[in-house]
Amino acid sequence: MSNCVRLMRQEDIAQVTAIDREAFPTMLPPTNYQRELKSPLAHYIVAYDDDKMVDEVEAEAALEKTERSLRFISRLIFRNRATPPSGKQYVVGFAGFWIMAGEAHIINFAVRQPYRRKGIGELLLISLIDLARELKSFLITLEVRASNPAALSLYRKYGFAGTGLRRGYYSDNKEDAVIMTVENIDSASFQEHLNHLKQAHSKKWGIALYQIAR
Ligand SMILES: CC(C)(COP(=O)(O)OP(=O)(O)OC[C@H]1O[C@@H](n2cnc3c(N)ncnc32)[C@H](O)[C@@H]1OP(=O)(O)O)[C@@H](O)C(=O)NCCC(=O)NCCS
Repeated sequence: MSNCVRLMRQEDIAQVTAIDREAFPTMLPPTNYQRELKSPLAHYIVAYDDDKMVDEVEAEAALEKTERSLRFISRLIFRNRATPPSGKQYVVGFAGFWIMAGEAHIINFAVRQPYRRKGIGELLLISLIDLARELKSFLITLEVRASNPAALSLYRKYGFAGTGLRRGYYSDNKEDAVIMTVENIDSASFQEHLNHLKQAHSKKWGIALYQIAR
């Protein structure tokens, strides 16, 4: 598996919405990514598995399903497929922020369940930090559920610190949100910390593409 990051496109919306629903099933109303993509404030990125296309994943799933009922026919169809199907890149995670008053506010961040704990969250966060810096936002902030140890640990690793609490912030269960912020991301000390993390990430997960062509 080789993972890359790029800006989100229109064609990603269905996959991103599915990942969002999987990660945040109780959040209502769901985020409208059509609208987000049109907003001049919003900046979204996706991580995709460069070895996989959506059609192939769908074909595998369809083959599994069809095999249960029509084993013989489905085998015939797929055996006779001369060329592998081609299609959209397979999105494995996404993240986005809004830039308001010069500050980047992370709105959404999720990785497909089977792809978690494989460094994709880090890949996305590194890319978001680089993108914020490129857009001249040197402070990044977000809200995270107090009961989300995975996200809390990821953000802490990258220098975010708790700067406040929003009581009863989440509408589904009235859970508190921890406000986490990292400042001065263009400072020499933060960049040094980030470079160490990028190197460790590349060493652990192989070379990944961080650059976001805008
Ligand atoms: C939070 C999330 C994005 C992390 O993505 P991921 O691809 O699994 O993360 P990575 O594999 O890159 O892990 C990076 C770091 O995150 C933390 N982390 C990730 N999963 C963790 C877990 N289950 N428990 C504790 N720490 C965890 C660790 O600090 C880890 O660093 P380490 O490998 O040095 O321990 C993912 O769990 C997710 O999509 N969760 C559901 C949606 C969500 O909660 N989003 C955040 C909203 S604020």
